[in-house]
Amino acid sequence: MKRDPSRASTRFTPKYSTGLALVVALVAPACGASAAQISAVTSLTGTASAGQSVYSSQCQSCHGTNGRSGSAGRNIVQVAQSNTNAAVGVILLGDGTMPSFDNTLTDQQIADVIAYVKTL
Ligand code: HEC
Repeated sequence: MKRDPSRASTRFTPKYSTGLALVVALVAPACGASAAQISAVTSLTGTASAGQSVYSSQCQSCHGTNGRSGSAGRNIVQVAQSNTNAAVGVILLGDGTMPSFDNTLTDQQIADVIAYVKTL
């Protein structure tokens, strides 16, 4: 069947997809952890070297030494790099068997561990 290119472009041009993806990315984690809680962490400058000790004591048992293995079976490096807000939201709230670190770690420690995970 021959496509009508003018119809195809009006119907399928994803005019708002970039904006929508951004809104979803910002709002989705905020459903759990508040946007204010998340931005309190992301506004800090994380220090990877400080984050390394947080990671080895709090995260490595489930996420492996490289952040891509371990019992959780997740690539947390990718999430930390591509959607820091979502990663911070999960760390604050927990997810499934992952515990919440809201009361265990300070905002600075969470910023540090994110900075470290990004280097893995
Ligand atoms: C008890 C095991 C456990 C510990 C400890 C743990 N996690 Fe997790 N983590 C998980 C599991 C399981 C998931 C996947 C949750 C799900 O979606 O079912 C996860 C998910 C994540 C995600 C989201 C990945 C995605 O695909 O969206 C990030 C980021 C993350 N963890 C970071 C950390 C960091 C940083 C620490 C240490 C501060 C940590 N985790 C400690 C088990 C753990």
